[in-house]
Amino acid sequence: MTTARDQAARELLAFYREAGIDALLEETPLDRFAGEGATTAPAPRTDSARPPPERRAGATGGALSAREREVVGRPALALPPEAAVMAAREAAKIAATLAQLRAMLERFEGCALRTTATQLVFADGNPQARVMFVGEAPGRDEDIEGLPFVGRSGKLLDRMMAAIGLDRSSAYIANVVPWRPPGNRTPTPQESAVCLPFTLRQIELADPDILVCLGSPSTQTLLNSKDGILKTRGRWLPFHTGTREIRAIATLHPAYLLRQPVQKRFAWRDFLAIKKALAT
Ligand code: URA
Repeated sequence: MTTARDQAARELLAFYREAGIDALLEETPLDRFAGEGATTAPAPRTDSARPPPERRAGATGGALSAREREVVGRPALALPPEAAVMAAREAAKIAATLAQLRAMLERFEGCALRTTATQLVFADGNPQARVMFVGEAPGRDEDIEGLPFVGRSGKLLDRMMAAIGLDRSSAYIANVVPWRPPGNRTPTPQESAVCLPFTLRQIELADPDILVCLGSPSTQTLLNSKDGILKTRGRWLPFHTGTREIRAIATLHPAYLLRQPVQKRFAWRDFLAIKKALAT
């Protein structure tokens, strides 16, 4: 028998879902209707339901030195934002390979998104490829699978790449933020800033000839652009990887193209420019 209380709970959950809230921050519910002093404080999170990072899908194992463990293992969640960015810079700098960078990220405590995401979404494709695509952040499907661009927009990206002769064996794919923001919201500037040193190092270590920024957040973060994506897209810009200068181009995000299919003609032009650049 459904009671009024069950019904109210169902309606509340439906409201949350509608509002994009689909992640629990605490495993123990907090009764906010209980009077002052009568609150049942949530039990401290033990993470018993989550395997330790090195056992989560996609982890590369504990190949970190004592120094690396010291850098990433600091409880940076408690650090002020600038200190978290500094910790990220220090950690990213030490990683000498993509595998080490991934291992660093698996253990990095400085971005709160890791506590709501299922797992790290580091990259997919071929890190030796000449072209690297960078999106915004994983969505629900990516969070489940641990790979970038596997959902609806990923399927479209695959078709766009195929149209210029690319697939995941000839392209490397990552995101500016490697953990899914709850409810697929846009990452905050602080979250992007903390993750950026890792993404920049990922680009430097993958060392592509061509960098493609998918959508506005990726373009604004990586290409330092304040303009809207419709203005920035389709123009080649120099990008310093830290080791050398390569060519970068911004294009429209596949998720945007799913909502605005009429804009696909612009993305098509950008992809033809990428094809031409790869032919030289
Ligand atoms: N959107 C992104 O920006 N990245 C993904 O991995 C998936 C969707």
